[in-house]
Amino acid sequence: MDGGRTGKPTIQWFPGHMTKAERMIGEHMKLVDAVAEVLDARIPASSRNPDLARLAGDKPRLVILNRTDLADPTVTARWREWFRHQGIAVLETDAKSGRGVRDFGPAVRGILRDRLAALEAKGQGSRPLRVMIVGIPNVGKSTFINKVAGRKAAAAADRPGVTRGKQWITIDAGLELLDTPGVLWPKFDSREVGESLALTNAIKAEVLDREELAADFMARLRDVCPGAIEARYRFTPDPDKNGWELLEDAARRRGFLISGGEADLERMADVLLGEYRDGKLGRISLEAPPKD
Ligand code: G4P
Repeated sequence: MDGGRTGKPTIQWFPGHMTKAERMIGEHMKLVDAVAEVLDARIPASSRNPDLARLAGDKPRLVILNRTDLADPTVTARWREWFRHQGIAVLETDAKSGRGVRDFGPAVRGILRDRLAALEAKGQGSRPLRVMIVGIPNVGKSTFINKVAGRKAAAAADRPGVTRGKQWITIDAGLELLDTPGVLWPKFDSREVGESLALTNAIKAEVLDREELAADFMARLRDVCPGAIEARYRFTPDPDKNGWELLEDAARRRGFLISGGEADLERMADVLLGEYRDGKLGRISLEAPPKD
């Protein structure tokens, strides 16, 4: 994706923080039977943390595709098939409204079928299954835990690792959740992944420069979903223009001008990024599954 200006150098995440977060999640892993990773359904690839496979060891894993209310349903369906094809169980949720959340218990019991059978064989069939929820900041971990628990159980804390003492939230007679989510650092080594994370609020847009992010996003939108620009900003995006020019066109259509009749790109960038986050541009997925 090229908004028309030279890309910034690759951003390095802070390895010190990551190590601490990983250590804490690793320590808590011993206490659980399974781990559920919450992903943003609009960016399932970029919101995954590749280190989780190692941290989870042989614990069964469940992927929760969250924010399905903001993602394109056909793309989400393709992701579901892709994960299943990899042998990974998937739950699709909108944690804010609660849609899909009640399927969590059955999904966990599904991935722990063998473990349950082994516990029953040892006469420990009544011991509750324990699950840890993990994910990068702001994907909806706390919202999901609260919805599953049916009360305000988890405090939102965007700090790495599991930040408070261990407490278990009883979901039903056979299922318990660790009360605080494990916060994984987002990992990115390409500008495009960094942009996806910034557009969905997992990292601050300022890390990349808000206007540049918005210009690149305009070009991306024009390519994947021009109808969204037409519907929201009332112009047909020119296929030959770069992201900055499209951002300027949108600013003019909205009447965002500064002295001298110049387009107010800063204001337009804020509006565009805010409207995408709030779903006002429609249900737009930024990543499709790889073809394999
Ligand atoms: P975290 O623990 O992973 O850091 O995320 P958290 O639950 O705090 O959720 C981050 C934001 O995402 C919250 O919005 C939350 O409401 C929203 N959210 C979580 N799940 C979903 C979902 O499935 N769909 C949509 N549309 N939003 C979701 P906020 O703006 O911080 O607060 P609020 O005013 O919405 O409560």
